[in-house]
Amino acid sequence: MHTTVGIIGGGPSGLLLARLLHRAGIASVVLERRDRAYVEQRQRAGILEQSTVDVLRACGAGKRLDAEGLVHDGVELRFAGRGHRIDFPALTGGRRVTVYAQTEVVKDLIALQRMEGDPLLFEAEVHSVEGVDDDRPVIRYTHEGQERTLTCDYVVGCDGFHGVARTAVPAGAATTYERAHPYAWLGILAEAAPNYDELIYAHSDRGFALASMRSPEVSRLYLQVPNGTDPAAWSDERVWDELDHRLGRAIPLVRGPVTQKSVLPMRSSVTEPMRFGRLFLAGDAAHIVPPTGAKGLNLAAADVVVLARALAHRYATGSGELLDAYSDTCLRRVWRAEHFSYFMTTTLHTDPAQSPFETRLQLSQLERLATSPHAEAELAENYCGLPL
Ligand code: DHB
Repeated sequence: MHTTVGIIGGGPSGLLLARLLHRAGIASVVLERRDRAYVEQRQRAGILEQSTVDVLRACGAGKRLDAEGLVHDGVELRFAGRGHRIDFPALTGGRRVTVYAQTEVVKDLIALQRMEGDPLLFEAEVHSVEGVDDDRPVIRYTHEGQERTLTCDYVVGCDGFHGVARTAVPAGAATTYERAHPYAWLGILAEAAPNYDELIYAHSDRGFALASMRSPEVSRLYLQVPNGTDPAAWSDERVWDELDHRLGRAIPLVRGPVTQKSVLPMRSSVTEPMRFGRLFLAGDAAHIVPPTGAKGLNLAAADVVVLARALAHRYATGSGELLDAYSDTCLRRVWRAEHFSYFMTTTLHTDPAQSPFETRLQLSQLERLATSPHAEAELAENYCGLPL
C-alpha cells in the first residue's frame, strides 16, 4: 500500500492529524496498535485549551464537544487553609478552557474518520520504519496476521514515548532532555456529582490534590502518591478521606462508586529536533509533560496543527519551508508548556526530600499568585494556552 502521509498511532494526535490532512485533500493512513475499544477508553486528561477547541470545531469534531463540554472560566488554588480563584477571561482578554475528556475527543475523531476519512487500521502493529533519510520511507507492520508494508512520502510518529517512531531516529541525531519527578498521581473516576463548580488545585501538608470532573455527574480526582504506589493499597474510603483532608474545604466531597483507579507516573521530557529526514514526531512521541496543568493533549494538538499546515503548504506550493521549520516552531510552544507544567508541579507538590525552607518558598509563590494580578495573569495565560 502507498499513501502520502503514514501516521503511526491512533491517539488524539494521530487522529487529529489525519482529520486535518483529509480537510486539506492530503491522503493518509493511520496505524494503531491497540483495538478500538481500548483507544476509546484510555483515561487521560480532560481540559481543552481554547485553541484546541477551535481546531476541533474547525475540522468538524465540535458537535458533541459544544453540546457536552463544560466551559470553565477559572480554577481555584487552595493552600494554607484558604482558597483563591483565578479568573481566566478577566486576565487573558476572554480566554477560557473546556472540560471534555480525551476519551470523548478520540471517539468523535474515530467516528468522523470512519465516516469520511482515509484508512484507520486498529490492531496494526508497526515493527519498523525504514528509509526516513531518503525519499521513500517504508513502514513495516502486521495486520490481520499478515506482514504488510506502507510506503509514504512522509511518516509521522504519534505513537507515544515508548513507540516505534522514536527508535527510527538514528542514535546521535536527536537529544532527549529529561526530568523525573519524585512522586506519582493516584487518579480516580467516580460516579459522584462534583460539589465544586471549577477545578481545585490544592497544596497541603500531606501533598497535592486535584479535584476535576468529567460531567455534572462524574468526578475525576487525583492525589499525589509516592512513586511505585500500588493502587490496590488505597481503599476507596482512604482515597476520599485523603482528598477531603488535602482539599481542606469546609464541605466534604460528595462520595460515590469509584469506577476506575490507577497510578500515573510523572515525567518531563523533550526530544530535539522533532524531525529527522521524512520522519516527524508529534505529541508524546516528542515530549512528555507532568499532568499538572493539563498540557499534554493540547500540546499534541498544537504539533499536528503546525504539521498539517506545513504539509498543506508543501503540496500546494512545492515548498518544504514550513516542514523545515516544524521542529523549531513546535519546540517554542513545547518548552513554554514544559516550564508551565514544571512550575505547577513543583509549586503544588511536596517533594519527599523537601525542606521546610522549600515549603515556605512554595507558600510564598502561592501567596504571590493570590495577591498580584501580574502573577495571576501569567498562570491564566499559560493555563488557557497561547494562541496557535
Ligand atoms: C485533569 C487533569 C489534569 O492534569 C489537570 O491539570 C486538570 C484536570 C483531568 O483529568 O480532568
